[in-house]
Amino acid sequence: MKDDIILSRTSCRDFLPTPVEDEKITAILRAAMQAPSALNQQPWEFFVVKDSFLKGEIAAITPYWGPAKECSVLLVVCKDIKNLKSNSFSDIDCAMASENALLEAHAQGLGAVYLGAAPKEERVRDLALALDIKAGLAPFGLICLGYPAKKKEPVIRYLANKVHVID
Ligand SMILES: Cc1cc2nc3c(=O)[nH]c(=O)nc-3n(C[C@H](O)[C@H](O)[C@H](O)COP(=O)(O)O)c2cc1C
Repeated sequence: MKDDIILSRTSCRDFLPTPVEDEKITAILRAAMQAPSALNQQPWEFFVVKDSFLKGEIAAITPYWGPAKECSVLLVVCKDIKNLKSNSFSDIDCAMASENALLEAHAQGLGAVYLGAAPKEERVRDLALALDIKAGLAPFGLICLGYPAKKKEPVIRYLANKVHVID
C-alpha cells in the first residue's frame, strides 16, 4: 500500500446514496482479516449491514453514531470471545483489523469513518441487542462505508518533537 493512501485518508461522514459494490466490500473484509493479531488469533467476525431500518436503529444508540444512518454499508467489527488465545490483546487485534478496513476503503475510492463501541459497555450491549447477536460474539466497533459526498483534504500531523531517537 502506498504512503499517499495512508496520508490522504480522512474520516467521511457525508455519503452519497450510491450503493457500494459487493467486490469492494469483499476487498475491505479481506484487508481487515489480513491484519496482525496477538498469537495470530484473528478474533474478528463481521456483520455487513445494508438494511436501512437496522442502520437507523444502530445510529440511534448514541448521538455520536449519526453517520451509521447515512452510509450505504455499515460494517460491524465483532470479537469471537469464546475462542480467544489472548483476551487482553483482543481489542487491539480488532482495532488493527478496523484500521486495515479504513485504509482499504479509501484505496477503493470510498469514504469511511470508524465509530467506537468498545470499551463502552452500554454501546456494546445495545449494539448486540440491535443485531440480535449470538452469545460468544461481542460487538467491537463500526465502520461506515459509502461514496463520499464531499472531498476532504487531510491535515498532515507529523511532529518531529513527538519522536525520541536513542542512538
Ligand atoms: C476509537 C475511535 C472512536 C471513534 N468514534 C467516533 C464516533 O463515535 N463518531 C464519529 O463520528 N467519529 C468517531 N471516530 C473518528 C474520529 O473522530 C476521527 O478519526 C478523528 O477525528 C480524526 O479524524 P480523521 O479520521 O479524519 O483523521 C472515532 C475514531 C476512533 C479511533
